[in-house]
Amino acid sequence: MLTTRFTDLVGCTVPIQQAGMGRFALPPLAVAVADAGGLGQVSIGELADANRVAQALDEARQQTSGILGANILGPDAESDEDRELISVASSRVRVVDFFWADPDPALVEIVHAGGALASWQVGSLEEAVAAERAGCDFIIAQGIEAGGHVRGRIGLLALLKQVLAAVHIPVLAAGGVGSGRVMAAALAAGAAGVRVGTRFVAAQEAHAHPAYVQALIAARPEDTVYTEAFSYGWEHAPHRVLRSSVAGAEAFQGEIVGRRFDAEDNVWVEKHHWQSFSVTDEYSGAIEAMPFWAGESVGSVTHVQTAGEIVRELASETEELLRRWA
Ligand SMILES: Cc1cc2nc3c(=O)[nH]c(=O)nc-3n(C[C@H](O)[C@H](O)[C@H](O)COP(=O)(O)O)c2cc1C
Repeated sequence: MLTTRFTDLVGCTVPIQQAGMGRFALPPLAVAVADAGGLGQVSIGELADANRVAQALDEARQQTSGILGANILGPDAESDEDRELISVASSRVRVVDFFWADPDPALVEIVHAGGALASWQVGSLEEAVAAERAGCDFIIAQGIEAGGHVRGRIGLLALLKQVLAAVHIPVLAAGGVGSGRVMAAALAAGAAGVRVGTRFVAAQEAHAHPAYVQALIAARPEDTVYTEAFSYGWEHAPHRVLRSSVAGAEAFQGEIVGRRFDAEDNVWVEKHHWQSFSVTDEYSGAIEAMPFWAGESVGSVTHVQTAGEIVRELASETEELLRRWA
């Protein structure tokens, strides 16, 4: 068992937090990760309104006795809607996790009032200190190696060194963590756990488009690029994707790159050229021109697995290495 300050605090048995990841991180993925002993997270921004968030989180809770969290991107304390979403989530899951906004004590207070722990993914020393001051219970330091949107500007280890010296709350490591070796290294460096994104995109329960999954399996860390290319609807937001998807989007001619049918609302949802979204298996269109988010951890994506297999593999490799190094 890998017991850390994070597992003690949150109550899970494996020090892995599954990243919020748009439509990949719906209840099926979160429940599978939680079942395997990690912290499984649902991206609640995908669920339209507070009623659907409540329903999805209630159902997820009934499906697992493991530990669940809710991730929200770009929360705004001035928005009634965001405050309600956070409040609804806080009374239902163990952790409410924030990213892509300045740490805000007003939001942390809502989480604590609802009975949950608050975590914030940060990309700099200053942001880490601000998150601790805002009252967060733990933070996640995100290095520039990370897949998806990237707040970090420097490598994970350099950031961890700064952050661990400055804050007292547990710190998880995110960005490029796809193997037991890297996870063990992060724990050995002082992290209380890791946050994993890209590895879980290739989990069966994430329902990523098969062409995206195949591209992840074929890619090496060198095949990712840190860019602002997919900026339609979300500008000045650096992210890491497969270089091949930037080339695919450059070659694409047209305004609408693809679409999916939303059965719940009975509508087609269209996506714009260069738009930022999760390429699930629901999409049709020019798939190769869509954003294939990937961190440098992509080198560890070698086949499709269940999320439970990924959690168990990471945990056992990590334990074995830490034992050997000790
Ligand atoms: C496909 C994808 C989507 C992501 N979406 C989100 C998100 O909605 N919210 C969030 O907090 N982080 C998001 N991230 C970033 C992760 O929180 C995390 O920092 C990153 O995945 C870590 O690097 P790794 O991909 O190498 O594991 C996303 C990452 C990926 C790969």
